[in-house]
Amino acid sequence: MSSIESVLHECRKFQPHELFVKHATISGIDSYHALCASADSDYASFWGGFARKEIDWKKAFNHILDESNIPFYRWFYDGELNASYNCLDRHLAKSSNKTAIIFEADDGSVSKVTYHELYIRVCKFSNALKDMGISHGDRVIIYMPMSIEAVVAMQACARIGAIHSVVFGGFSAKSLHERITDVGAKTIICANYGVRGGKSVPLKATVDEALSLGGCESVNKVIVYQRINQDTPWSLDRDFWWHELVENASDYCEPVWVNSEHPLFILYTSGSTGKPKGVQHSTGGYLLGTIMSMKWVFDFKDEDIFWCTADVGWITGHSYVAYGPLAIGGTQVLFEGIPTYPDAGRFWQMIEKHKVSIFYTAPTAIRSLIKVGADFPGKYDLSSLRLLGTVGEPINPEAWMWYFQEIGKERCPIVDTWWQTETGAHMIAPLPGAVATKPGSCTLPLPGIIMDIVDEEGNHVEGVGGGLLVAKKPWPSMIRSIWGDPERFKKSYFPTELKGAYLAGDSAHRDEDGYYWIMGRIDDVLNVSGHRLGTMEIESALVANPLVAEAAVVGKPHEIKGESVIAYVVLKGLRPEGDEAKRIVAELREWVGKEIGPIAKPDEIRFGDNLPKTRSGKIMRRLLRSLAKGEEITSDISTLDNPSILEQLKQSVI
Ligand code: WTA
Repeated sequence: MSSIESVLHECRKFQPHELFVKHATISGIDSYHALCASADSDYASFWGGFARKEIDWKKAFNHILDESNIPFYRWFYDGELNASYNCLDRHLAKSSNKTAIIFEADDGSVSKVTYHELYIRVCKFSNALKDMGISHGDRVIIYMPMSIEAVVAMQACARIGAIHSVVFGGFSAKSLHERITDVGAKTIICANYGVRGGKSVPLKATVDEALSLGGCESVNKVIVYQRINQDTPWSLDRDFWWHELVENASDYCEPVWVNSEHPLFILYTSGSTGKPKGVQHSTGGYLLGTIMSMKWVFDFKDEDIFWCTADVGWITGHSYVAYGPLAIGGTQVLFEGIPTYPDAGRFWQMIEKHKVSIFYTAPTAIRSLIKVGADFPGKYDLSSLRLLGTVGEPINPEAWMWYFQEIGKERCPIVDTWWQTETGAHMIAPLPGAVATKPGSCTLPLPGIIMDIVDEEGNHVEGVGGGLLVAKKPWPSMIRSIWGDPERFKKSYFPTELKGAYLAGDSAHRDEDGYYWIMGRIDDVLNVSGHRLGTMEIESALVANPLVAEAAVVGKPHEIKGESVIAYVVLKGLRPEGDEAKRIVAELREWVGKEIGPIAKPDEIRFGDNLPKTRSGKIMRRLLRSLAKGEEITSDISTLDNPSILEQLKQSVI
């Protein structure tokens, strides 16, 4: 409870800096309240108005919100548009020569593309995809490192109406395979290698391995971007080099106009079962969410240089790298490498070099940079910054203060943005020229986003109090379904007891100012370094190992990562000890790395002859969580079938 208590006792409050307020798009708390009031008085028209103003429609919509088949909401559903047209073509008249992307490679080399150049590259690659037989509604898997090409690949899919599903480059062949088959992909776009922290990572070889696992008959082409000139495994009849395909491709490609509800992409995320969920997003509503949050929360101005450090493999990299910044015609930095290479000053050095004005990163990154290099920011000129942001996990007040003082020099507001893969865009975050911030709180919902805290029966919690975080009304950028499993969508997010509200899966607390404080997940989902991991996914990976009989995974608070993964394992053979235990731990960690990806490797593995269970056979996870934290078990364990194994499970092998 200590971290929860520490945020709840936090009472510092920072008013937005005068200078910031003066130039802010939404300036002063009254403007914020006025926007909220306008959403309250006519909810649908509020969003409809922004959708008409901010998006270029090929065919204007007449209907804003369809609620005839709840919870399968449809927004702007008789309108037609193209996301890539909105991100590129519409800026050409005014901003053809404006820099769209400043790409910095792992080794520090920089390349820039203007809107016109990016447009040409997207058109050429779109034509290449069409030549490969990809068309409207086909699914394309993208398994790429951070690169201009990754953005081109996503935009090109959007341009021709294909549905992309980006898989983070750190996922294993097994995880990639699961996503390829679930989504029924026709083509895979990958790089031959990724380059991070001075090392190359073989991506194409992983694609080959995934495809060899069977059940991937739908995939008949693999397009490979040559990141480095190094041996690449090749299949002559199936594999194509990106550069050869675009060489003679035409540089004009008419966008395919799609319905507003056409799925722009599917992105897999962890849930509380062993199988990741394919979160399906729309085109029109999603785009509107990214645009409005770029303007309201990032207070984006034409001359800003925006940098979101998230990988395109996560939702943050979709909304605030591949779509949001381009949809509003902004300039952004795209970074291939990692924050600690060649040293822990890399982020700050890049902010100075590219004159970044808006910087958006994860609390984990901030915490690790405090730990390994607190004196680095002092070496660089960070005066270009005017706004800072965080995302992905709660930020502890200490890290918030460091970010505020050392990076923002107490000038830059911090926007702590709460949202999810499923919400598509920011939901709760301060509008920086209007809402005062408190370290550790994501503050107040965006205008038109109607959040609440309820108890388990769905009753509103009045005033100061805690409970389940829900959204009481639909919003344009919300998840539309789980790919191939609409029933699971309904059950996971709209459980009947919540009377139609969207269940976020987080618990939250509301303070005396109505500010939201996120307390963490209420389901079996861990948040490790800002990445969502299902405990069940890791458990199923462990029990798939021939040595393992049973496994239970829980999270434990971690200073830098937020949470770390602790696995309790029962082997089929005897409980191992000493060197043998160490050997098996190493083997199981490797195994999980191969089954899911290195991010899911348990930080600790503990062996027992059994797991603590009730007499009815239910694993007592509460006890396992206490054991992981090293807490004395003081609760009643009389219902426990086998109390003696608690002693064994106290011991960690690594
Ligand atoms: C957590 C990432 C506290 C939360 C955009 C949520 C946060 C999950 C915050 C979604 C925040 C995200 N403060 N917790 N500002 N932002 N979370 O789908 O538990 O990868 O449910 O989306 O991250 O993670 P996801």
